[in-house]
Amino acid sequence: MNIIIITGASSGLGVEFALQLDNVFHNIDEIWLIARRKKEMLEVAQYLEHTTRVLDMDVTEMAQMERFKELLADKKPVIRMLVNCAGYGIMGEFSASNIGEELGMIDVNCRALTHMTYLCIPYMQKNSRIIQLASSAAFLPQPNFAVYAATKSYVYSFSRALNEELRSKEIYVTAVCPGPVDTPFFDIAEKTGSTLAVKKLTLVRADQVVERAIADSYHRRERSVYSAWIKSFDVVSKVVPHKALLELMRFLK
Ligand SMILES: NC(=O)c1ccc[n+]([C@@H]2O[C@H](COP(=O)([O-])OP(=O)(O)OC[C@H]3O[C@@H](n4cnc5c(N)ncnc54)[C@H](OP(=O)(O)O)[C@@H]3O)[C@@H](O)[C@H]2O)c1
Repeated sequence: MNIIIITGASSGLGVEFALQLDNVFHNIDEIWLIARRKKEMLEVAQYLEHTTRVLDMDVTEMAQMERFKELLADKKPVIRMLVNCAGYGIMGEFSASNIGEELGMIDVNCRALTHMTYLCIPYMQKNSRIIQLASSAAFLPQPNFAVYAATKSYVYSFSRALNEELRSKEIYVTAVCPGPVDTPFFDIAEKTGSTLAVKKLTLVRADQVVERAIADSYHRRERSVYSAWIKSFDVVSKVVPHKALLELMRFLK
């Protein structure tokens, strides 16, 4: 049984991946959707041509991940693609933040993504793909989005290293590094009252980011960066010392 697994499949980019991959892949038996909100995933499933398995689970819960591991062992699927979209960000000053939410970001964005990847790799084969949702926040430390940016640096670094490790197995990993995307992400990110200054200027549609990511994954690229703004940000963050950029950010605040 050939399958695609998508986490964060109840909202935003995860839903968009489900819709687009449903059209792209024709030799897939099932698409597995993972998130906590079952009703939203069942709604998504209605739009998919492929048979869908909805797994309502919290990817940070060890017992639920253990059950997922048992499900894989039972079904023994070939995982043709894993898309790790589950994640969230909270803006605001770290010292004034809710520590549970800050640690939760590390749990979902880093720990669960790592765990999910680890459980899925044994079921992959030549030409399987892993798509990890990093962010352009991975390119530079982000004051007032500090933990989130750090989690995305982790995802970016982990994905690139894993891509090299898995090369001999011909399994390819792509880190997707979008700037602001128009999804419910900001309902959570901006609930503290802080807003992302560049959002209005650089916001893009989810379908555009996902289309680019699928194409980059197909071409075995280690990363996917969409939009001229974010490509420029990537170049600037590589050539200008970060100290100078952080000073500029403080000045512009
Ligand atoms: N939107 C942006 O501007 C942007 C930019 C760069 C990178 N990203 C990254 O892209 C990814 C997807 O974000 P999005 O924009 O699609 O945001 P979103 O619409 O808020 O979707 C986040 C998804 O993560 C799932 N999720 C969160 N915690 C979970 C948990 N503990 N267990 C299982 N699922 C969990 C949510 O499902 P449930 O609530 O149903 O569990 C939801 O489906 C995230 O990693 C985000 O950091 C987003």
